[in-house]
Amino acid sequence: MANVAILGAQWGDEGKGKVVDIYSEKSEFIVRYQGGNNAGHTLVVNGEKTVLHLIPSGVLHEGKTCVIASGVVLDPAVFMEEIDELTKRGLLSEKRRTKVVISERAQVIFPYHKLLDRLREEHGGKGGKIGTTVRGIGPAYEDKVARRGILICDLYDPELLREKLERAVKEKNTVLEHLYGQPKLSIDELHQWAIEFGKKLKPMVCDTRVLVQEALANGKSILFEGAQGTLLDVEHGTYPYVTSSNTITGGIFTGCGVGPKSLEHIVGISKAYTTRVGTGPFPTELADALGEQIRAKGAEFGATTGRPRRCGWLDLVALRYAVEVNGLTAIALMKADVLSGISEIKVCTAYEIDGKRVNTLPANIRAFERAKPVYETLKGWGDLPSTAKGLSDLPREFAAYVEYIERSLGVPVVTVSMGPGREQTLMRMM
Ligand code: GDP
Ligand code: IMO
Ligand code: MG
Repeated sequence: MANVAILGAQWGDEGKGKVVDIYSEKSEFIVRYQGGNNAGHTLVVNGEKTVLHLIPSGVLHEGKTCVIASGVVLDPAVFMEEIDELTKRGLLSEKRRTKVVISERAQVIFPYHKLLDRLREEHGGKGGKIGTTVRGIGPAYEDKVARRGILICDLYDPELLREKLERAVKEKNTVLEHLYGQPKLSIDELHQWAIEFGKKLKPMVCDTRVLVQEALANGKSILFEGAQGTLLDVEHGTYPYVTSSNTITGGIFTGCGVGPKSLEHIVGISKAYTTRVGTGPFPTELADALGEQIRAKGAEFGATTGRPRRCGWLDLVALRYAVEVNGLTAIALMKADVLSGISEIKVCTAYEIDGKRVNTLPANIRAFERAKPVYETLKGWGDLPSTAKGLSDLPREFAAYVEYIERSLGVPVVTVSMGPGREQTLMRMM
């Protein structure tokens, strides 16, 4: 299998975990390159559900190397919980030869990052509340670009660690005390906390860039697993209602230290409709009974925070944008079963903003909030079979929906998902 990127083409939760699980059967390395445990990737195999926040979704297969690359922000406590759980289930045993490695350059999420995330959300006020997952992601990436972040490798240099903590904590304490009326942080406690976790992580820490480069040189197949989605990208998403990393294809190159030639296929994952969790514009949102029906049938509640996801029609303006900014070569269309039984299906083909037709995403967030969807209506479909060999095994109306999307986006739909299970999937070309 050629190297492939699997990433979200919408606002996250598109079904990346399911697709990565399926595609990683043929890949030897599965690499997470950005984000942190704000992600919640769900896999359903033989009826058993697994939700992964940090560990790549290839971990259910035998003989895989699951890599957490340098672009990730890592909460050691969450990571160790996930490792312990998978070990208990026998998935990380020596016999299975599946292992997890962490980049020595990955950034560490400290308890103060989580605290600041929460306080900012609580004190955000109108327009300032992003609706984050409160996992400390934003504050950790802030420290990274402000050049005061603490890397995994720093956990093994107690003196450097203390120096860095002293610098970080001085600033944090000023903010915590004077802006939020909170008690001061203790450097000693944080130092101890970091050293202890460093010991636990140690056997898994390495230079993942070298590992990935060797894999490339030896012709091993690599799957790059995205987290979040294109419209949550810190630069190209619906800023400021975004996450704090580059979720798009570009994030692979910066987050792993590989060049663009290392990628053959870039598959954008999209639901047959749209969801969003958190604040921010969402032109095709259905704030009505139909939206409620989709949420209930699609079990649209966050895999990380349990929050209800906002639901709406498929937005082809946003998806075309995703094709462009990621250089998508294909689409995987998920959760088609959720729309079964709805007689008319709408798709948004353009926006109308202040009386003008617009075919791309406006940069000004207020303008985006005023965007009204221009819809085209297609025929709905009835129940889908749980397995299929080709589009011809599926209702005619659904096949027409898939073909409409392909024409509109100019890329093929290579995978269609008709249920959460591994087997409820139609694999087409690629
Ligand atoms: P991710 O963050 O992109 O990996 O997606 P999540 O796991 O957060 O959310 C996707 C949800 O949809 C999970 O609960 C999946 O089990 C579920 N799912 C994936 N594909 C399908 C599908 O085709 N049909 C249905 N009904 N559920 C699906
Ligand atoms: P997966 O990988 C959906 C959203 C949050 C919020 C914004 C910023 O499961 O698709 P953050 O905690 O990152 O600072 O929150 O981004 N968000 C996600 N939405 N799926 C995700 O991950 C998300 N990760 C973050 O809801 O709007
Ligand atoms: Mg998710």
